[in-house]
Amino acid sequence: MVNEPFQSGRDFAVALDQSDPLARFRDEFHIPRSENGEEEIYFVGNSLGLLPRRTPKYVDEELEKWRRLAVKAHFSGENPWMPYHELLAEPMARLVGASASPSEVVTMNSLTVNLHLMMTSFYRPTRERHRILLEEHAFPSDDYAVESQAIVHGFDPDEALVRLRAGQGKHTIDTAEVAEVLERDGESIALVLLPGVQYYTGQAFEIEAITRLAHGKGCVVGFDLAHAAGNLVLRLHEWNVDFAVWCTYKYLNSGPGSVGGCFVHERHGRREDLPRLSGWWGHDKESRFRMEPGFRPILGAEGWQLSNPPILSLAAIRASLDIFMEAGGMEPLREKSLRLTGYLEWLLQREIGDAVEILTPSDPSRRGCQLSLKVKSTASGRTVFERLEASGVTCDWREPDVIRVAPVPLYNRYEEVYRFVEILRNAI
Ligand SMILES: Cc1ncc(COP(=O)(O)O)c(C=O)c1O
Repeated sequence: MVNEPFQSGRDFAVALDQSDPLARFRDEFHIPRSENGEEEIYFVGNSLGLLPRRTPKYVDEELEKWRRLAVKAHFSGENPWMPYHELLAEPMARLVGASASPSEVVTMNSLTVNLHLMMTSFYRPTRERHRILLEEHAFPSDDYAVESQAIVHGFDPDEALVRLRAGQGKHTIDTAEVAEVLERDGESIALVLLPGVQYYTGQAFEIEAITRLAHGKGCVVGFDLAHAAGNLVLRLHEWNVDFAVWCTYKYLNSGPGSVGGCFVHERHGRREDLPRLSGWWGHDKESRFRMEPGFRPILGAEGWQLSNPPILSLAAIRASLDIFMEAGGMEPLREKSLRLTGYLEWLLQREIGDAVEILTPSDPSRRGCQLSLKVKSTASGRTVFERLEASGVTCDWREPDVIRVAPVPLYNRYEEVYRFVEILRNAI
């Protein structure tokens, strides 16, 4: 796999592309072009994934049903809207390693909304056990959500939030450090909320090990998989994660603001004692349209739905999931991703190792496709980033000083990685 020796020179990159069994999937996407008409090196699928060529067809089908059938399309025609979200359950479950019957996953709302819905059910604080463990530099929306949940339950967030810090001189948090905090404070922690992949450093957290450790201390464990879904091989069911939430507009290529994903472990999907915020779309399907009072949840994650979902967004997600399934699911994509990012790391170290610090762990099992780079040159990181943009590279800048680059196995090429490193060297 990635321990193959890489070679310098463009020919090697071209040869890797020629032998790449997934190379044809690039043609499934619209690649943005720079002003000079050339295709951009688009390394920012960790922020917004590209538009699949087939998406307009899937969305148009629904618009056409709206035109032809209007309200009747809820119940008639091909793929009626009423159960439309069910079409997404199986491929989405495959992508995150969930069981499909009754479904542990549902596509609904957006990430932060789903996080609140999950915390309403799974953050059940008592005086003795009310704290929430999260990272010091958690994604701000998670931070705000967690803080507000503590406040809603009458706790002081300064006291209730336990923040994991990277050790002195380190950028990432080891599982041993999570274990230490759990050993010290575990009895007072109600909920552990961590990312699958950290948005800033690109570090992949050891979901299975952390879940086991936290469960050992009696904590509930949830994961924010915004940067992990469609990036890593996940086995949420087997790893016994309590809940997880993710968005679909990054690696899942479903378009800006598209609907998010939510996982509730089977152990909880059948429970009747869990409080939740309810809505009619989570109500038992057989009796939903009797319009009677008395909420009875659907078994599984679907029971957390609130509203009838935006079909146009679900259609876009369906188009994208079909591509993932045609590519053989996450395993082959991850295999390519390990090699693609491994090649990027190898070239960076070889060509400009003394001018670039890579914050992301070098152990491939502890990262996804993203590398987070800190430039150590006379030109500022921001200037280097602007030069990259001016040279047809689209990546992103995260304050205070990080350039994130994410070669995505579905549509990026080895040859782009080669050119990127050349451009970065010149920019520095
Ligand atoms: C790690 C992480 N968590 C949460 C969010 C918030 O997502 P949403 O706006 O869909 O709620 C994002 C958005 O980019 C994210 O990257």
